[in-house]
Amino acid sequence: MTVAPEARPTQGAGRSDQVQTIFSEIAPRYDLLNHVLSLNIDRRWRRKAVRALAWDRRPEGAYLDGCAGTFDLSLELARQPGFKGRIVGADFAFPMLAAGLTKIDGAPVKAVCGDALRLPFPDDAFSGMTIGFGVRNLADLDAGLRECVRVLRPGSKLVILEFTVPPNRFVRGAYMVYFNHVLPRVGRLVSGHPWAYTYLPESVKEFPGPEGLGRRLTEAGFSAVSWTLLTGGIAAIHVGTKEGPGAP
Ligand SMILES: C[S@@+](CC[C@H](N)C(=O)[O-])C[C@H]1O[C@@H](n2cnc3c(N)ncnc32)[C@H](O)[C@@H]1O
Repeated sequence: MTVAPEARPTQGAGRSDQVQTIFSEIAPRYDLLNHVLSLNIDRRWRRKAVRALAWDRRPEGAYLDGCAGTFDLSLELARQPGFKGRIVGADFAFPMLAAGLTKIDGAPVKAVCGDALRLPFPDDAFSGMTIGFGVRNLADLDAGLRECVRVLRPGSKLVILEFTVPPNRFVRGAYMVYFNHVLPRVGRLVSGHPWAYTYLPESVKEFPGPEGLGRRLTEAGFSAVSWTLLTGGIAAIHVGTKEGPGAP
């Protein structure tokens, strides 16, 4: 791996390119590391995220999984008993989509390579949208959330699953030892990438907390914004609804 440490994502211009490069480079090991480093807890979180989408109000609808990566959230939705709709999994790192394609296996999931800041879809196109561990990586969070509002039909929900910093200082202390020391080492060893798994804890610490993200969702145009902390607050699910004419 030949990525220079100075290529770490920054907050300014060029962040999108850098994030795209990281995920393209770790794509072949992403799924393995995801489940190992989260001790498989992510599967439970994904099930909860899909429940929060309330897809059963429109089981035949079209759903968007933004920053879809290797389609774990897309497939969680596609495999729900009674789901009869279709899912578009969109991501700008083509190698992530390519790594996930082998898992689709006849499920109604279509891959689209595109940028979450300029989604290649018309207004009001989707009956619901999920984003798993993606919004933290966006170069412009507010622009990304406004794109979500744009592509959702009125009355539809956006569900965001994202890491957070635990509010309890004892849980936070123990978790930070794991997050700052164990996770980057295991990540480096398994992925072969020198700093991708150092970027992960850094990006979580820099990202707005649950209240901050809730406020940004409201400012972007979502209503009835709520959130639930998961597993002692190491992750959270945020839900917002797009209001507008035609909303049930
Ligand atoms: C941590 S992975 C999450 C993948 C998947 N959603 C999951 O739950 O495992 C973050 C994904 O967001 C994608 N991503 C980040 N910024 C993006 C953007 N501006 N447009 C599209 N995809 C983006 C990355 O390429 C990467 O695949």
